[in-house]
Amino acid sequence: MTNPADPSTPKPWHHYARALANLLCDRGDLTDPAWYNAIAHTPRHRLVPQIWKQEGAPEWTPVDTAGPAGLELVYSPTSLITKVDARGVPISSSTKPDLMVRMLESLDVRGGDRVLEIGTGTGYNAALLTHRLGDDNVVSIDVDDELVETARARLARFGAHPILAIVDGENGFPARTPYDRIIATCSVSTVPWAWAEQVRDGGRILVSIMPTIHAGNLVLLEKHGDRLEGRFSRRLGQFMSMRHTGEAPETLASAQPAGDERQRTTTAPTEPWKISPVAWMWAALELPGLSLGYSLNDEGTVDASYLTTPDGSWATVPLGRGERTITEAGPTPIWYVIEKTLDRWHSTGQPGWERLGMTATPGRQTMWLDAPDGHHHWPLTGN
Ligand SMILES: C[S@@+](CC[C@H](N)C(=O)[O-])C[C@H]1O[C@@H](n2cnc3c(N)ncnc32)[C@H](O)[C@@H]1O
Repeated sequence: MTNPADPSTPKPWHHYARALANLLCDRGDLTDPAWYNAIAHTPRHRLVPQIWKQEGAPEWTPVDTAGPAGLELVYSPTSLITKVDARGVPISSSTKPDLMVRMLESLDVRGGDRVLEIGTGTGYNAALLTHRLGDDNVVSIDVDDELVETARARLARFGAHPILAIVDGENGFPARTPYDRIIATCSVSTVPWAWAEQVRDGGRILVSIMPTIHAGNLVLLEKHGDRLEGRFSRRLGQFMSMRHTGEAPETLASAQPAGDERQRTTTAPTEPWKISPVAWMWAALELPGLSLGYSLNDEGTVDASYLTTPDGSWATVPLGRGERTITEAGPTPIWYVIEKTLDRWHSTGQPGWERLGMTATPGRQTMWLDAPDGHHHWPLTGN
């Protein structure tokens, strides 16, 4: 017979789930008892039985999460890669529970609300929502049929039956409108207007607005009439970008500079990786189509990274500590634009995310500093 007091006796998953809920409370991510219960009673390990890891090698390898070490990882504030495409690009993950719960709290979900989630993935967030709101009040959609069918089967095994559908989230899910809340776990460069039409007046949308990879953050928008408005989150929340059927997913290795003898070299005033994410977002909005790419060496580790624009311009971005030499080429002076944006960010008082907000009306979406009618506005490029 096993003795539960014996430290070598395997602990049941509830032990790990409760420990995670307690940790999230201690860290201040979790304050609402209803979400505490959802975290403590939702078996994330059943939705994430296997993850993909890339440890110092170019290949991704599957790792089972069964056993104490696996449970320890699954019930930790860690994002877990759960699907990688044929080219080695991650296309789905189970979001970090700390970020997930902070998002759910800031959405201010109330009992009886109807919620639409864009990006079912593993179904973990749909399970948290279902625990709190019941099957009929949760709709979760994903563009990936395999993910949706797998999540549906795994959720059903522990009695959760939210409404799941395989559709492109850009169109929302009109069959169950109106929604009190919409939460997106994939990022977009502007809010798809279908979401504004499907949320009720006074309802909220929480989504990560990212003009390019690494640039952007969560914004919490409230609907009044034909206007969505709200502020960016103080803490960073970035997601993989929305993809569409038949479209190649975003890849980190795609942006390779073409050779060009008219290269320019400059010394950056700040190490590129120390630039504030807010300034990166501003720069990304000045450089439409900006993309970040990495190249990997034979060991699979990143040996260079590049910023590129659709006209073929590129700038190398050094990765090492203290390195500030930038080489660039092409018609768009990418690094020059970034430095000018950085100067403007400094002269505006180095604002953090809490000073930024967004307004969306039909046909026009803008990011603003301090107030919607203030002096600083940036048009958000369409997606
Ligand atoms: C970070 S994962 C979602 C995590 C998920 N909420 C969970 O709890 O596991 C992002 C998901 O967005 C999905 N996605 C990407 N583009 C989409 C689209 N156009 N419509 C709906 N889902 C999309 C991806 O397939 C992926 O599963």
